[in-house]
Amino acid sequence: MSKTIIISNRLPVQLQISDGGLTAIPSVGGLATGMKSVHSGGESLWIGWSGLTEEDTPPALEKDIDKALKEHGCAKVNLTAKEIEGFYFGFSNRTVWPLFHYFMEYTEFELDFWDVYKAVNQKFADAIIEKSDENDTIWVHDYQLMLVPQMVREKRPNTSIGFFLHIPFPSYEIFRTLPWREEVLQGLLGSDLIGFHTYDYERHFLSSVRRLLGLDVSFNDVYLDHRVIKVDSFPMGIDYKKFRDAALLHGKNIHEKRSDLQVKLDDHKASAPDTKLILSIDRLDYSKGIAKRINAFEYFLNKYPEYKEKVRLIILAVPSRSNVPQYQLLKKEIDELVGRINGELSTVNWTPIWYFYRSLPFENLIDLYTSSDIAWLTPLRDGMNLVAKEYIATRIDKTGVLILSEMAGSAYEMNEALLINPNNFEQQADTLKAAITMPKEEQMARNMFLQNRLERYNVEVWANEFMHALNKKSEGDDDAF
Ligand code: UDP
Ligand code: G6P
Repeated sequence: MSKTIIISNRLPVQLQISDGGLTAIPSVGGLATGMKSVHSGGESLWIGWSGLTEEDTPPALEKDIDKALKEHGCAKVNLTAKEIEGFYFGFSNRTVWPLFHYFMEYTEFELDFWDVYKAVNQKFADAIIEKSDENDTIWVHDYQLMLVPQMVREKRPNTSIGFFLHIPFPSYEIFRTLPWREEVLQGLLGSDLIGFHTYDYERHFLSSVRRLLGLDVSFNDVYLDHRVIKVDSFPMGIDYKKFRDAALLHGKNIHEKRSDLQVKLDDHKASAPDTKLILSIDRLDYSKGIAKRINAFEYFLNKYPEYKEKVRLIILAVPSRSNVPQYQLLKKEIDELVGRINGELSTVNWTPIWYFYRSLPFENLIDLYTSSDIAWLTPLRDGMNLVAKEYIATRIDKTGVLILSEMAGSAYEMNEALLINPNNFEQQADTLKAAITMPKEEQMARNMFLQNRLERYNVEVWANEFMHALNKKSEGDDDAF
């Protein structure tokens, strides 16, 4: 029977060795959380990096690792510490990530990073060939593996290969600065179908293909040798039911099995019933605009001092890519900003910002989503931003206000949210005020539309639409010319 092979750098679980044993912890990030729901429901094998380096792995544990991953429907690609350095911390996160998020000043063009990126992409392609059959469908994910489709195509000319990019594809003027731009495009064009979150990213990609490779592009078809490659947008959804059910259960259990975090949130509400909780959740990443958000919060409190002691900002910043210098600098900047603002503005009864630097289990995310009056998400660039969708899904009584950056892919589908430009502090201060004072009826009217849309275009529908387009593409022989 043919199966689907999902391939991404990050598996849905990360293995850690502690006291000689293995623990599998859930991975953070939109790709892993979204695809996990697709993977658990179907007949698929997910290939990726286990989170361990070869050097960290005693040979005696190899079998246990394979067994632990198999329980999650996964298989591993082994990477050495040097490969992780050049491929993951290097080319993926010091070249592609900043460039594709329009942070040119953080982008490093290092030949050594590129060489390791190529070699590791080949490793992933070899793992696919080894673990799959000719008639399996291959679905490659994200910017760490952009050369894999072409590498697999060379060995398996007739296999059906899809690729989905979870981050923005930048405009031609940005993309053209990459020294290895043609190779990256050729790598992606090994696919039969290339998917993006939004029509803009799709358009940028097609423009680069046309201008850099001189290929024929007609509507969203690219003509290459004897193949036609389809390019389309598929905005990723969430596992709506999972978040909804968890929030419903949370509501029922509220007086019985409360987490420590929920107790703290409830205490806060009881002691200051008219204080609004404003929530932000992101990986600690410069693309998320966390430092700007904190500055904008200070600006808001100065512009509207009547809200001092009446609002509290909760920042959950999840540790991410902490070997990359820009992330270390950002951590320092945020620590200092939070310290300064809390130091300057706190009163005996009030701390303006609660700051958590850690990842939280799913149940605690639900505690935060369901307890917060406002979600305030201000990415400077974001491929999609699933947190925005998750917040709305958990609002059982339909109250709650979402303030969302127009630079997030999800803003295209969430027009009823309060959309802001994260660089405009004046607008953000006024929007925060509007959110705090928004009547319940208006909140509910906006969220009704948002919830209906999220329920309809959930992650399963997203995956089915992508797979359907890919299968249709491989069945239709009218594509060959
Ligand atoms: N998330 C998580 N643990 C946490 C905080 C967040 O698993 O402690 C999840 C969150 O539920 C969401 C994902 O991480 O599904 C973040 O995805 P998003 O698209 O917002 O941003 P990304 O991290 O992919 O850039
Ligand atoms: C984003 C990327 C994913 C990545 C995730 C977490 O969602 O699109 O590919 O897995 O961030 O980042 P990390 O570097 O920890 O895998």
